[in-house]
This record gives sequence, structure tokens and C-alpha cells, in this order.
Amino acid sequence: MAKIVIDGGHRLEGHVRIGGAKNAVLPILAASLLASSGTSMIDEVPSLLDVEHMIHTISALGAEIQREGNTLRINAAPVNRVDPPYDLVRSMRASFVVAGPLLARFGEAIIAMPGGCNIGPRPVDLHIKGFEAMGVQTRMENGYVHFIAPKDGLKGARIYLDIASVGATQNIMMAATLAKGQTIIENAAKEPENVDLANYLNAMGARVRGAGTDTIRIDGVDALHGANHSVIPDRIEAGTFLIAGAVMGNGVYVENALSQHLTSIIAKLEEAGARFEDDVQGIRVWPVENGRLKALDVKTHYYPAYPTDMQAQIVAALTTGIGTSMITETVFENRFMHVAELQRMGAEIHIEGRTAVIEGIEKLSGADVTATDLRAGAALVIAGLMAEGTTTVSGLHHIDRGYDNLVGKFQALGAKIRRIED
Ligand code: UD1
Repeated sequence: MAKIVIDGGHRLEGHVRIGGAKNAVLPILAASLLASSGTSMIDEVPSLLDVEHMIHTISALGAEIQREGNTLRINAAPVNRVDPPYDLVRSMRASFVVAGPLLARFGEAIIAMPGGCNIGPRPVDLHIKGFEAMGVQTRMENGYVHFIAPKDGLKGARIYLDIASVGATQNIMMAATLAKGQTIIENAAKEPENVDLANYLNAMGARVRGAGTDTIRIDGVDALHGANHSVIPDRIEAGTFLIAGAVMGNGVYVENALSQHLTSIIAKLEEAGARFEDDVQGIRVWPVENGRLKALDVKTHYYPAYPTDMQAQIVAALTTGIGTSMITETVFENRFMHVAELQRMGAEIHIEGRTAVIEGIEKLSGADVTATDLRAGAALVIAGLMAEGTTTVSGLHHIDRGYDNLVGKFQALGAKIRRIED
């Protein structure tokens, strides 16, 4: 089994470049299926397992894809299937967003009920509710959802989301681009990745307005074409390095990080004593004194609040905080599995309902730990960098889903970290 081995306690210095956002590129690749003509060129595509998965999914449907470095060239004109392979969809929840484009372009989609990160029940009822409002008929059969649009195509509708779901907003937005008339999504997710998706759709000829606010209006058009697009920087990868720099850095520069997407993370780290300077190219983080954050209260919520995808990393950093921290997870149930692993390293944390109560200690100690999901994996790497002695992190397939060369990037910052393959 592959492992990351970290000798903790070494300060980080220098600069690291952030790649394109995983959570933007996945729906953007799915959106490419909407183009019945022309070629799309997508730039700043990170090398991630999840991206490979999505590439396999859309090529299995008939799209032609070539990769050159960080650029993907996609020709979706030949797409001729509406049933992505079961295994690909089961292993990545985000593949469910191919449903909207397939329904819009072909009037049909047959998709396995999704799998994905092991972080509590994650239903797709809101996606389905949105499609049904547009006239879609839904049948569940043998672990698949079979969606069928009305014969004359999807109909624009007014759709209120009970939860501002990121994936449901994407799926409905993409379906609506080719629907008849106007669709209005109320209580839409405001995440920057959804704005990036809307920009790509508009470059393809769609008419989407209001992305980034809680009301998105989409006027259906007859057809979409390929377009060029550069993916926004990954705010979660950037946030992960900012947290590492706040506790273990010596002036780390996070190139390509956009401070306007990171306001909640920067505000919380400033409250804990870290300092930041930003310019047009990126953000420099100056560490807290002695590497110990002041205790914090943090509550995860939808954008622009503190993101659930940065919860595990701040929990790791606060294990050596000064005082008692309270971290409340409001977006997902069961997203505290990293706590048991951090406890192996000496962390004093107990869970009360949806809140992790952390009593800061002076130092963590190295241990063998296992990543239980993507962001938990990043949190354990940060903990290993902070700890005295050697930490071994296994479960790397989770980390590889969403971090492009995490080990190489920390090495370039001077960390004593290496990856050992089988
Ligand atoms: C996306 C992100 C993920 C992030 C999450 C929340 C991608 C590929 N993934 O996931 O990294 O952690 O947003 O910021 O972009 N829900 C329902 N019914 C639904 C859909 C969602 O009840 O039909 C619930 C979920 O169980 C969860 C909450 O809504 O409690 C938020 O989920 P959602 O915003 O849909 O997350 P994802 O799009 O899956």
C-alpha cells in the first residue's frame, strides 16, 4: 500500500503554485457534453484521480478527448450514449452531474445512484426534484435512475432548492441551457465553482445570469458549441497551503490563490494570529507565533461562509491551538472521521453532536494514520508536518482524488516528506 512518510517539525518556506479547481473542472467537463458542434479547449486542468474519472466517463459516452499538459481538447459532437458506466459513477459522486447535460441534449439519461466520499448520507433528491419540475419522468431500476424528458424537450421552470446544493444547482443549470423558455433557480448555491461553470456555459452560447447570487436565471437556447475556458484556481488547495503556512511556515507564498474566494479562511486564520499579504499573483502567509494558533470557533456553511472542505485541515491546525476551540460541521453528517486519527497523534478532541471540541496541546507526536476521505487526508499531512517524530499516512487514493502532487509541493517548500509506493 502506498504511504506518505513525514518527518515533522521542519519549517516551510518558498512558494507553491495552486492548480485549477477540482470542483469547477468536474462540472465543466460534464458541461462539455452539451456541445453538439465545435471543440472545447479547457486550460488549468489539474492531474487528479477525480478528473481522470470524469474524462473516462465522458469518453465512454463518445466524446473525443486529448490532453496536452494542463489543457484538454474535447470534441463532444460524436457523443451517442446516455448511460455512463456503472463503475465510474458509483466510485465518484460528482459524475451524477452528467445527467443534466445528457437530458438537455438527448432527452434521456441512465445513471447509477452515485457513490463518493465517505462523509455521511448524500442524497440526490434535489437534483431529481429540479429535473421533474422541467417535465422529466424518473424511474428507479436496479440501482440506476432512468430520466426521460418530454418528447418536445425540457421545459423551463421555477425551482426552489430546499438546500443550496452545489451539485443540484449545477445539474439544473446545465439542463436548463437547452430547455424551452426560462428557468429560475432560487436558493441556488453561490460557490465560485458554479460561477466558473456558468461562465463556461455562456462561452458555449448559453444564457445564464445571476450565477454567484442565490437566484440564477437561464434562458434556453437551441444548441451549444465548444468554447475555450481557463479553470479558476482551487480555493481548497490554496486554503490547505495557507493553513500549513500559518502553523509551520516561514513566509509561504501561495501563487495563483485568489483572496476574494478565501475571505472566510483568511479571516479565521487572522483571528488566530496569522498575517497575510496579497497581490495580483497570490497570497503570502506569515505564521502565528510559536506555530500555535489562538483557539477559534468555526462553523462550516455554504459559500461565502467557512467551507466544509476546509474543516478537517483547521481541526488539525487547532490541535496545538492555545485554548479550547469549537468546530461545528453543519453541511455534512459524519464528517469527523479524521478526529480518531488525530487522537492517535495525541490530539485532545471530543465530539459533541456536530461539534468537535479541541483542547489545544503543545505538540502532536508522529503516528501511523489513515486518510478516511479526501480532506481528512490533507489534514493528516498537515498534522504530520506539525508533529514531533515520524508520521505515516496511508489511504492515499483519497488524497490523489483531489490534490495534484501534494507531496512534491510540500517538498518544494522544504518539508521532509516522501511518498513510498507499494
Ligand atoms: C460539493 C463539492 C464538495 C463539497 C460540497 C459542499 C463537488 C464535486 N463537490 O458536493 O467538495 O463538500 O459541495 O460544499 O463540487 N443534499 C441533499 N439533497 C440533494 C443534494 C444535496 O439533501 O439532492 C445535501 C447533502 O447531503 C449535503 C448538502 O445538501 O448535506 C450539501 O450537498 P451539496 O452542496 O449537494 O454537495 P455536493 O454537490 O455533493
